[in-house]
Amino acid sequence: MKRILSGVQPSGRAHLGNYLGAMRQHIEMAKEYEAYLFIADLHALTTVKDPQQMKEQTYDLAVSYLALGLNPEKTVFFKQSDLSEHAELCWILDCMVKMPFLERAHAWKDSQAKGKKESTVGLFNYPILQAADILLYQPDLVPVGQDQKQHIEMTRDIATTFNNNYGETFKIPEPFIKKEVAVVPGTDGQKMSKSYGNTIEIFADDATLKKQVMGIVTNSVPVEDPKDPKSCNVFKLYKLIAEEKEAKELENKYIKGNFGYGDAKKALLEKIMTHFEEAREKYQEIYPKQDYVYGVIAEGNKRAKEQAGKTLNEVKKKIGYL
Ligand code: ADP
Ligand code: TRP
Repeated sequence: MKRILSGVQPSGRAHLGNYLGAMRQHIEMAKEYEAYLFIADLHALTTVKDPQQMKEQTYDLAVSYLALGLNPEKTVFFKQSDLSEHAELCWILDCMVKMPFLERAHAWKDSQAKGKKESTVGLFNYPILQAADILLYQPDLVPVGQDQKQHIEMTRDIATTFNNNYGETFKIPEPFIKKEVAVVPGTDGQKMSKSYGNTIEIFADDATLKKQVMGIVTNSVPVEDPKDPKSCNVFKLYKLIAEEKEAKELENKYIKGNFGYGDAKKALLEKIMTHFEEAREKYQEIYPKQDYVYGVIAEGNKRAKEQAGKTLNEVKKKIGYL
């Protein structure tokens, strides 16, 4: 059976971009693949410095996955910081990778452009920790959004270098990026991202969700005029959630005119509410069950450790530690 692995940082609440670009595939693919999914809290330390926030956002992400339908029996669902193997393999790989290789990373270049003094060593090292996360589990596929493509390519390069120097050790993983949801737009038309403040949060309370949807930026074509659905952020998001037939109907309303952006936003809000109705209810139901949620993670940690320990042992033999 083929294997998938992916992680999401607990750096804020899950949004439509996370769900459509990654989390939905994680949950769906776990039905036919062997699946390892984890909360990337070591990575989140590059941005989340408040301990309370780290704890709450980690818990929130675990509940979000469970509410969206992750089956903890079929999926090994774990927390990165509970497994020392990730940081251990990261150090070993650190000693195999040259500085200029990391200097090419987009995230590092962006942070350097903003101000060198603020960039931590952890941020520089981020892609190697991600390579360790992936290689420990020997997955075939890594389902992610487009923004993670470079990280998977770097992982492949690092694995190849190690294999060439020490003999076959790591499987070379493939990124799995779904084309139509590779870059989900945010409320301002840029890529939806927690760091841009342009998100629509799946589990926000009704009032916040409404505010986020109503805040989507549109152009100033008057209500009565025909509008171009393809260039409208509201339509783009609607199309990603709705059935094909429903999207066609909304498209026709845009083209006919006498249909304002306010109407389109209402249609989108309703669609989001119905699409996530069950998940939103489940979120409320699961959230208070702390023992259950922490129990799922503890069990996932145990199962993950088996696989991670096996690979790390192999690596240690190859480099002469064992
Ligand atoms: P953010 O950019 O909001 O901080 P993360 O880095 O936590 O999101 O991303 C978690 C997963 O969601 C990754 O696989 C990432 O590629 C995917 N993802 C995030 N934003 C989007 C988006 N706008 N469109 C498609 N996928 C996305
Ligand atoms: N860097 C990823 C993100 O920001 C999170 C992540 C950490 C990850 N380790 C991973 C994704 C391993 C896939 C595989 O979304």
